[in-house]
Amino acid sequence: MPNTLPSPHIGPKEGARFRVHHMREHKQAGVPFTMLTAYDALSARIFDEAGIDMLLVGDSYGTTMLGYETTIPVTMSDMLHATRAVTRVVKRAFVVADLPFGAYGSSVSQAIDNAVELMKAGANGVKAEGGAAIAETVKAIVDIGIPVVGHLGFTPQSENALGGKRIQGRGTDATQRLVDDARALHDAGVCAITLEMVPSSATQAVMAAVDTPIIGIGAGKECDGQVLVWTDMAGMTDWVPSFVNRFGEVGQALAHAASDYRDAVRARTFPAEGHFHKT
Ligand code: KIV
Repeated sequence: MPNTLPSPHIGPKEGARFRVHHMREHKQAGVPFTMLTAYDALSARIFDEAGIDMLLVGDSYGTTMLGYETTIPVTMSDMLHATRAVTRVVKRAFVVADLPFGAYGSSVSQAIDNAVELMKAGANGVKAEGGAAIAETVKAIVDIGIPVVGHLGFTPQSENALGGKRIQGRGTDATQRLVDDARALHDAGVCAITLEMVPSSATQAVMAAVDTPIIGIGAGKECDGQVLVWTDMAGMTDWVPSFVNRFGEVGQALAHAASDYRDAVRARTFPAEGHFHKT
């Protein structure tokens, strides 16, 4: 479906790609930009043509598509495979690829090598989880010309250390830690920060402290952009987090299509005349 929303004079010109400065344009104009996850060419093309500004080849690839319980088993090889599939077809959206767990924690040179690999797979930028602790690594990646999106609040790769999927940044001390981390990422040169599962009061504190575009997921209305995992927002799963709106019931539609197909084959109503050649 074409993008029919009225578009003020922000964002890329017709036929051009959404870029880092467009995030800042959106922020200044107070018009939120959009990001969805994508892990394959089929869905990426649909989201790109629908006018989604940024696509995240998230390591949620592991939990959504590969059947893992957490993102921790996801490898660079998994991420490269998915990133290549997405970037092969996307024309307008800015594609961010996640550095998976274990791909940037050993040394700055390991992080640079892996970020470079994701860029060579076609990504326009990379995302890494963490704040002040990874600021030096982030700066080194930024310094070689790679846009980096930070990720604070609930950081799924640290799920075990955080004690599960819990709201982060609650209370004065935790909010202050979030603000300090956001400042460290800002100073390291990130082009945006993803803020996941934090109260909107903490989001406001971060936004008051840094002018970096903030992309929220369960972080309130005031964010400069919003991101969702596509399988959550399109109704592919039975359960979705409370901060997700189901914008479609694609899972149900797919299940109906599959059972209609099964019934039609059994009843020999498919294939019908026109679905095959007689000679
Ligand atoms: O991997 C992912 O999908 C993410 C989002 C939750 C922001 O990092």
